[in-house]
Amino acid sequence: MKSLQLIFRYIKYLFRARSKHSAQAPFLYELITQVIDKTTDDNSCKNIEALRKELCTQERIIKITDFGAGSTINNSKTRKVKDVAKNSAKNAKFGKLLYRIIQFYKPKNILELGTSLGISTSYLAKADANAHVFTFEGCPETAKIAQENFDKQNITNTSITLGDFNLTLSEKLKEIETVDLAFIDGNHQEKPTIAYFEECLKYANNNTIFIFDDIHWSDGMENAWNYIKSNTRTTLTIDLFFVGIVFVKSELSKEDFTIRF
Ligand SMILES: C[S@@+](CC[C@H](N)C(=O)[O-])C[C@H]1O[C@@H](n2cnc3c(N)ncnc32)[C@H](O)[C@@H]1O
Repeated sequence: MKSLQLIFRYIKYLFRARSKHSAQAPFLYELITQVIDKTTDDNSCKNIEALRKELCTQERIIKITDFGAGSTINNSKTRKVKDVAKNSAKNAKFGKLLYRIIQFYKPKNILELGTSLGISTSYLAKADANAHVFTFEGCPETAKIAQENFDKQNITNTSITLGDFNLTLSEKLKEIETVDLAFIDGNHQEKPTIAYFEECLKYANNNTIFIFDDIHWSDGMENAWNYIKSNTRTTLTIDLFFVGIVFVKSELSKEDFTIRF
């Protein structure tokens, strides 16, 4: 039932999607042509994908501590690393999009809710060695493997905050003071997603970018996405179906743009 709804939402998205030529604002046109429509395949990306491939064969079993909406695929308390890698991590296409966003807009303080095995974190961190990725994870055994993965790739510009986002996020934000990019990829439920957005928004500046995963995954996530779009500080929003990108730049007019990705 859930997957049928998702297919229906995807078809609606395809009909809503506009071409880059209908992008009037120069900022939006540049985002589409220089970031969204580009491809990336440098050595860092190749290495991250080689790591993913290796994780997708790991039979090692870990104990899962699940605080979030959980997985619709496997709700058992222990899982093989290969299953976590296959089902939880953003795919290469989206990992590379994150990478290009970092390289183009150069955010310095990057926040990620939902480290998992550290695949998306690796894209965020490798994109710019001068940025720092503050990544958050609730499951200690998963986070331990993520740290191993950072060490394997010599990633030093990342720190993991362990624990429930509901307890760790506000404390860490006080320490970080400003957030330039926030990637929200954990606990995909309406109220927590809105709460994370509002908490991060207190530390946002005019150039802050928000990226939300799974904005059409459920009715609750669609409600959260609509709420985020209607926030008075939100100006430009981009719907790529599997992720939504939010800008709060005050000089942009409020616009919601759907584009095929
Ligand atoms: C979809 S996975 C993240 C995938 C990762 N960003 C990637 O693409 O490689 C979501 C992660 O968020 C964590 N999580 C969900 N809800 C949480 C919460 N309330 N507190 C802490 N961690 C949470 C889960 O343990 C899971 O590892």
